[in-house]
Amino acid sequence: MEFPSELRNQIEMKAAAWKPSELRKASAALSEKYRNDSGKGKKLVTSGLDALVYSIVRMPATFAAVSEALRYAAECTGEEIHSLLDVGAGTGAAAWAADAVFELEKIVCLEREKAMSRLGAEYMRVGSETLRNAGWIYADLTSENFPYQADLVTASYVLNEMSDPDRSAAVRRLWNAARKMLVITEPGTPVGFAQLKAARDQLLSEGAHIAAPCPHEVLCRLSENDWCHFTARVQRSRLHKIVKDGDSPFEDEKFSYMVFTRNEPQRAAARVLRHPYTEKGRITLELCTASENTTVTITKKDKEIYKAAKKAVSGSKIDL
Ligand SMILES: C[S@@+](CC[C@H](N)C(=O)[O-])C[C@H]1O[C@@H](n2cnc3c(N)ncnc32)[C@H](O)[C@@H]1O
Repeated sequence: MEFPSELRNQIEMKAAAWKPSELRKASAALSEKYRNDSGKGKKLVTSGLDALVYSIVRMPATFAAVSEALRYAAECTGEEIHSLLDVGAGTGAAAWAADAVFELEKIVCLEREKAMSRLGAEYMRVGSETLRNAGWIYADLTSENFPYQADLVTASYVLNEMSDPDRSAAVRRLWNAARKMLVITEPGTPVGFAQLKAARDQLLSEGAHIAAPCPHEVLCRLSENDWCHFTARVQRSRLHKIVKDGDSPFEDEKFSYMVFTRNEPQRAAARVLRHPYTEKGRITLELCTASENTTVTITKKDKEIYKAAKKAVSGSKIDL
């Protein structure tokens, strides 16, 4: 899904008030903070410049990852989603993604860092009517029950900022606020996936269903040193290249996600876990199915399945 051009323009307008060297320096300092202090419950973005740099560097990638996760969620649930609570909303990337995927009538963003929410609210002024009317709640996910429930709750790239002891209570609060669906997105790293897997075990034991990516609700069969993640390709803007250096026209955002629902979902029969391996007349897929993790080779003789396999990418659901 394309990053909204009106949002890109707003980010560029804000960035124009700063010299490229100032943005580059702030970006390097923020990356350093994320490398050293994530996962400890510390505040990482504290100034307006930090928030701006975050939005330049990370919003296109988090928007792309959350859009994919929400698209997979919509495929497996068919739920009508009219309201959103985006927790740890930052500058609002997940809310923009949800607004593009669902027919939202109400958006509420919860965030504890005013520098982020101030900028996020400003960006939303150029969005859809629902984005323009979004409400913002200043609250801390670790200490407060949310004063609002919504059809869909999103938490993207938030759990990995929290300390281990806080995370499980936070997951319960997120779930309690979700009337129909909770979608958690995290970096596609061993740590990000381990946190999602723990949330999966916790919420399944508390009666939630899992709609995607898993085709089953039993224990995840991936080995300890493997992790379920997917990739969203993101076009890099001129501004992104200036701030983050490098000329590559795109970046590949690796992400992991889980979609929890209150109603029984229509789960995939199988999920493609890795990029398909294509040879002449045959495609090899690494799959997670309801009963096993397996590798299958599909040939032209398999007709309909071969057609589906040709279109499949890592993350696709597939009917065998
Ligand atoms: C990495 S940013 C992600 C922002 C946005 N969700 C996105 O995907 O672009 C994490 C956000 O979570 C917020 N956050 C972290 N811990 C929080 C907490 N305990 N309560 C509320 N917000 C929190 C941070 O202030 C920050 O804005």
